[in-house]
Amino acid sequence: MENLPQSRRKFLTTLTLLLAAGGLLVRFLTPRVIGKRRVLATAAATEVPPGGALLFRAERLALLRDDAGFYALSLVCTHLGCTVVVTEDTLSCPCHGSRFDRQGKVLKGPADRPLDRIKVELRGDRVEVVG
Ligand code: FES
Repeated sequence: MENLPQSRRKFLTTLTLLLAAGGLLVRFLTPRVIGKRRVLATAAATEVPPGGALLFRAERLALLRDDAGFYALSLVCTHLGCTVVVTEDTLSCPCHGSRFDRQGKVLKGPADRPLDRIKVELRGDRVEVVG
C-alpha cells in the first residue's frame, strides 16, 4: 500500500514526460507554414495600359497587361540570370541574345526555358505582384 502513491507519482511523471516529448516530436515533424503572402510590387491598374508594361527594376520584374488582363514576368533571364530588357514587342537579354515574347516564351536561345511568371492579384483598383 505504501508503494501506491509513489507508483502514481511515477506514472504521472512518466505521462507528463511522454506528452512533452510527443508535443516536441509533433512540432519537429510538422512542416512550418511556408511564406506569408509577400507583395513584391504594386501599381494602380490605370498605370498599365492595355498592351503596356510597367517595370520594377529593383525587383527585376515587369507587370504587363494584355486583352486577358494583368500578368507579371520575372526579368531574370533563364539562361544565366542577366536582366532582360523589355521592348515594345519582345523581351531581350543583352548578355547572350535570348529573346522572349510578351508572354515570356522563348523566341530565340540560348535560353531554353520561358521567363518565370509571378502571381498577380487585383485589389480594388490596384494590382499587386505577390511572391
Ligand atoms: S543570360 Fe540571358 S541569354 Fe544568357
